Amino acid sequence: MKSKKTKICIVGLGYVGLPLAVAFGKQEKINGFDINKKRIEELKKNIDSSKETSSKDIQRAKITFSFDPKIISQSNFIIIAVPTPIDKYKNPDLRPLLSASKLVGQNLKKGSVVVYESTVYPGCTENDCVPVLEKYSKLKFGEDFQIGYSPERINPGDKVYTIDKIVKVVSGSDKKTLELVAKTYSKIIKAGVHKASSIQVAEASKIIENTQRDVNIALMNEFKMIFDKANVNWEDTLKAAGTKWNFLKFTPGLVGGHCISVDPYYLTQKAKSLHHNPKMILAGRDINDNMAKYEAKRMIRYIRKNKIKAKKILILGATFKPDVSDTRNSKIEDFANEIKKKNYQVAIFDPFIKSTRIFGCQNIKKSEIKKYDFVVKAVNHKLFKDLTPNYEILKYIDV
Ligand SMILES: NC(=O)c1ccc[n+]([C@@H]2O[C@H](COP(=O)([O-])OP(=O)(O)OC[C@H]3O[C@@H](n4cnc5c(N)ncnc54)[C@H](O)[C@@H]3O)[C@@H](O)[C@H]2O)c1
Repeated sequence: MKSKKTKICIVGLGYVGLPLAVAFGKQEKINGFDINKKRIEELKKNIDSSKETSSKDIQRAKITFSFDPKIISQSNFIIIAVPTPIDKYKNPDLRPLLSASKLVGQNLKKGSVVVYESTVYPGCTENDCVPVLEKYSKLKFGEDFQIGYSPERINPGDKVYTIDKIVKVVSGSDKKTLELVAKTYSKIIKAGVHKASSIQVAEASKIIENTQRDVNIALMNEFKMIFDKANVNWEDTLKAAGTKWNFLKFTPGLVGGHCISVDPYYLTQKAKSLHHNPKMILAGRDINDNMAKYEAKRMIRYIRKNKIKAKKILILGATFKPDVSDTRNSKIEDFANEIKKKNYQVAIFDPFIKSTRIFGCQNIKKSEIKKYDFVVKAVNHKLFKDLTPNYEILKYIDV
């Protein structure tokens, strides 16, 4: 970078991009760009529909929001935080990342640094994104612009481990860029930065964090299935085993959302491209993907065995984890569908969801709960603390 003064633009203002923009915006004037016009219009009115950031915080931050990509050209330090989903074949879908790279490329000034935060497999930033930046900017990587990668590690809904309290892994395409990326993030991260030795190390570090969590939860789910059959209390078993210092305290859970249930596939695709069969990671994915159906079948067996007259079943919670409004890849959809297959009428009560329908079920009002014969708590929202369900599944869902 020739110019000493950096001007930041965050591209993609979702669960990750907005808190980041607010953190930087409290320090200095920055720009925020998103292709979603509705989102930008809400943010201009200090409204975060995902309820992660308060209106007061958005208002206090000095952010110019825009859905016009030209705003990107006013900045020389651009951070990309767009989604990295999978397609229906569970392969990485790089379309948002590449389309954001195209928009950034079209508005890239000489001397800029582009930092990616989206979760990707090692090599993606340099091999997939850089060519797009070069093509649309007509600038040369390494000479005219530099890149960085700094994985986002926030945990939406978590009010304790907020963005400033999580060590930030940073990387850069050369030493000078690494120092600039480290210095820039150090302004907002009180916990400090970790300088990764390469961009690929930074990319890989994030993907293994989430894959490790997925596999460990899968192991707990497998333990639970064995102990359910053996009629051994799994909660008491985990409590007893957890008294040893080196027993890892994971719990069974329904792994949904767009990180833990998705990111391992970015790693498995990379592994397969290198002719390695990632057996353990895929086995974990398979277990976790089938856990909701397993829990639904188990609950129905309980209803039948106990001769409970239950025609109308109410599910408490629809989001992929407690105390958030995010339903992306929520396993509650599989849970509801499995119950419906057995000819029960199913409704949901989730006050985090505004819509009156979710997963093909009615999202009822609190006053209607009494109309249901059987109430199952599926998501442990704090708001449900005063309700007394007939049954609870995996109360530790928290991924
Ligand atoms: N949500 C999490 O818990 C979390 C945590 C850590 C890392 N991540 C990773 O961070 C990345 C972003 O995730 P998220 O949860 O913030 O996603 P999100 O869907 O909440 O937000 C992404 C935003 O990007 C915008 N967008 C999409 N394409 C765009 C484009 N071409 N140009 C500009 N904006 C565009 C969307 O309109 C949306 O507002 C993903 O790679 C994800 O895996 C997410």
